[in-house]
Amino acid sequence: MADGSAKSLYVIVLAAGQGKRMHSDLPKVLHHIAGEPMLAQVLKTARRLEPAEIRVVFGYGGDQVQAAFPDESVEWVRQSKQEGTGHAVALALEGVPDAAPVLVLMGDTPLVRRRTLDRVLAHVAAGELTVLTAEPDDPSGLGRIVRDSTGHIKAIVEECDADKDQRAIGEVNTGIMGSDAGRMRAWLARVNTKNAQGEFYLTDIIALAVKDGARVHAVQATDALEVAGINNKLQLAAAERIHQRRQAEALCERGVTVIDPDRLDVRGTVQTGRDVTLDINVVLAGEVVLNDGVHVGPGTVIRNSTLGAGTQVQPYCVIDGASIGRNCRIGPYARIRPETHLGENVHVGNFVEVKKSTVGEGSKMNHLSYIGDATVGKDTNIGAGTITCNYDGANKHRAVIGDDVFIGSGTQLVAPVTIEDGATIGAGSTITRDAPAGKLSMSRSEQITVSNWDRPKKEPE
Ligand code: UD1
Ligand code: CA
Repeated sequence: MADGSAKSLYVIVLAAGQGKRMHSDLPKVLHHIAGEPMLAQVLKTARRLEPAEIRVVFGYGGDQVQAAFPDESVEWVRQSKQEGTGHAVALALEGVPDAAPVLVLMGDTPLVRRRTLDRVLAHVAAGELTVLTAEPDDPSGLGRIVRDSTGHIKAIVEECDADKDQRAIGEVNTGIMGSDAGRMRAWLARVNTKNAQGEFYLTDIIALAVKDGARVHAVQATDALEVAGINNKLQLAAAERIHQRRQAEALCERGVTVIDPDRLDVRGTVQTGRDVTLDINVVLAGEVVLNDGVHVGPGTVIRNSTLGAGTQVQPYCVIDGASIGRNCRIGPYARIRPETHLGENVHVGNFVEVKKSTVGEGSKMNHLSYIGDATVGKDTNIGAGTITCNYDGANKHRAVIGDDVFIGSGTQLVAPVTIEDGATIGAGSTITRDAPAGKLSMSRSEQITVSNWDRPKKEPE
């Protein structure tokens, strides 16, 4: 489209329905695709058309719907009673300039692509009332596209109003439609509720426009799945898979090695360097940055985190809100929690949890540790089973561990506490006071042997 007309475009998104077949208290358009409400996906696509305005018709669960989009700069149009798609569009058209092109999108059709909408808008720009159609495997429940003997669209008939022949038609209405605002408004004013559902059907404007001799055009979508509406949980799951597959393919096209594109889930945005590998069943959520050569092992969840070049994440790790330096080795079975910063070459091994801690270059904690609210210096080794006791039941306290420290296995560091540079802590210590630099500190109860002791035996029954 020419720039001028694109600027005046009004997009209307219909999102007032309950979605009964979801069997849920959540309004239909708030059910998630890729970790965000399906309406967010529709709005994202709408925004890419650079419209003058987006108007969202909402009604069922209204406050919930609005509250889910606090930052969205859209016009909210409340439809208190869902009297049909025609009624919804008529409400949304109030005050839209007659000459403005209007595109109606469905809040429950989140996979539609921009390039498909561009095809519709090209016909709208040419002055045609345009409807987007599709030929799905199963047309049941949808409005059928009735064409005349020359192939021109004549009408849309809802399934519940259709006769046997009309029901046999395989081409359906996707619900996506466009025209100029003035004529759409005039046609809608003539729509009545004489139909099986007693509703104002948007679809009725097709027959009215044909009767008026106006130019009406049906654009057929090349991919029926892209324009399929979501009405139940099975369709929601199917749409999720399609969306995930698309994202995985986009990553592959960028050069990411995705071991199985059907077993990757991206619920947010991912920036990737060169030679990144994602093994199976990885979930990436929020904003994730994976620099050159990062390898993410199977079953790992990474959320709102940045991983430095060359870092290897072994199987089954959870990394959330962390920044991880270059060439680190994480896992298997590691949990890295928010506000954690790992320097270069840090090793965090199996069953190690790190929370709100900074760890310097070259430090290692390889087995069964909990490091929380801590600062760890460079080249420090934290032995197996070492934990920071950072919580006294009321407040959190910090542990400060210096450079080149060696902490023996099974140590408890009772914070607040400082372990100075080069200190060694003997295994099995409970450290409650600061440990001086370069010295061995330990606390250990003396070992005794009880010589006149017999191991208990099971009593005969
Ligand atoms: C509608 C179309 C049908 C098409 C199908 C595609 C009509 C009459 N029928 O049927 O031809 O094949 O979509 O999915 O248009 N909505 C409102 N306010 C209302 C009614 C609906 O905002 O008063 C919204 C719903 O939230 C939904 C969309 O409009 O996002 C479609 O409504 P729905 O009731 O699902 O229409 P269908 O019966 O599926
Ligand atoms: Ca529907």
